[in-house]
Amino acid sequence: MSALSATHFDAEIYNIGIRKSHQRSGCGTILLEEFINRCVSEMVETVWLDVRISNEGAISFYKRFGFSEFTLRTRFYTYPLEDGIVMKLTIGKQKS
Ligand SMILES: CC(C)(COP(=O)(O)OP(=O)(O)OC[C@H]1O[C@@H](n2cnc3c(N)ncnc32)[C@H](O)[C@@H]1OP(=O)(O)O)[C@@H](O)C(=O)NCCC(=O)NCCS
Repeated sequence: MSALSATHFDAEIYNIGIRKSHQRSGCGTILLEEFINRCVSEMVETVWLDVRISNEGAISFYKRFGFSEFTLRTRFYTYPLEDGIVMKLTIGKQKS
């Protein structure tokens, strides 16, 4: 009988959105910090998300939390057709 390694999980962010009139006032940060804290307590090791390549604001936002660009998904989005970037955060390495 062999011992199993410690359990760990992945999580994925499908979407996050702040009303335009409230953007850049820290609301997204509060949401994402809460999400990451829950991930820590649920033993999530890796968080994944997709973002449009043109969405520079969101990419900057995610990078502040330690997300990095993992790979490109060619023609992933439609209306309009656009490439997506897969971003990855390894829990414990995010910016405090
Ligand atoms: C991306 C989004 C969730 C960020 O939420 P937010 O409440 O506006 O973000 P915050 O106010 O917490 O910003 C924290 C930091 O992230 C970075 N950031 C956020 N929006 C940015 C933008 N448009 N351009 C550049 N940097 C940005 C900045 O460093 C910002 O700090 P600062 O305002 O002191 O410079 C929000 O802009 C949004 O809902 N966008 C539309 C929907 C969307 O694109 N969702 C992501 C889909 S994957």
